[in-house]
Amino acid sequence: MNKPSILVARPVFPEVIERLQQFFEVDSNQNNEAWSKAELIGKLQGKVGVFTTGGDRMDAEVLTACADLKICANMAVGYNNFDLPAMTARGVLGTNTPDVLTETTADFGFALMMATARRMTESEHFLRAGLWTEWRYDMFAGADIHGATLGILGMGRIGQGIARRGAHGFGMQVIYHNRSHLDAATEAECKARWVSKEELLKSADHLVLVLPYSAQSHHAIGGAELAQMKPTATLVNIARGGIVDDVALAAALRNKTIAAAGLDVFEGEPKLHPDLLNVPNVVLTPHIASSSLPTRLAMANLAADNLIGFLTQGNALTPLNPEVLLKK
Ligand code: GLV
Repeated sequence: MNKPSILVARPVFPEVIERLQQFFEVDSNQNNEAWSKAELIGKLQGKVGVFTTGGDRMDAEVLTACADLKICANMAVGYNNFDLPAMTARGVLGTNTPDVLTETTADFGFALMMATARRMTESEHFLRAGLWTEWRYDMFAGADIHGATLGILGMGRIGQGIARRGAHGFGMQVIYHNRSHLDAATEAECKARWVSKEELLKSADHLVLVLPYSAQSHHAIGGAELAQMKPTATLVNIARGGIVDDVALAAALRNKTIAAAGLDVFEGEPKLHPDLLNVPNVVLTPHIASSSLPTRLAMANLAADNLIGFLTQGNALTPLNPEVLLKK
């Protein structure tokens, strides 16, 4: 019997491709060719599944043009590249990769906060440029992490991981803002207190963004919000580009409205707004918060498990629209 055909839209671990090949005819973009939407649609003809990463937009136009498609398996926890209502309407399952990346991403969020507060990349650039000639009492003096107030906007699994690190490891006071309050046991475990967004902005020494991107969270941090923060505060975004207004942030960094920022995600990435490259008080990383080798492999395997489970047995481990499974 012919195996069903799937498309792997981006390069991925060879061992994961080999696993998929046991079940499917695999057409894989291991050369990382930049496909236009029309090319992606062309590649998807006759494919019942697609393995995507966060940059691959699966919108209504693509779904409509790819009638054979039954599942889109994202190798990411975020899925703002999916038009989920359009998938559900067409009976296409969407899956993501939660949980396996929580602790690794929380590690990175914490590391980025520390690098930002303690001006690590700025001082490294200074050193590499051969500018270090003497010890100075105020050289790259930054902000403390221990004992400071950690603000978290978006308190899902990753936000909770960052809160635990801050409260238990560094004696930070943790405040958070989220649409819903955590239950009392989780709040106690994270030593975290719910506050309004205004209080979060006003009180945080270090503000970390971990909320999903949506039309509602677009530019949740813009000029008006930055103006409410302390001039000594730092801002870290490990969530999604577009949650921060990058132009407003670059201006706030230039004008010292806030002290510094650490950014792993950008509006329009992989392109960056040039203003961000021209301010020294920002730590920039290329969307790598979940990128430890074991975690990226676990994410790829979970996306593969979802494809295999759904296309061979009608089940998926981490469905985003489980109503599609129920209709099968
Ligand atoms: C990465 O950004 C993810 O959503 O997993």
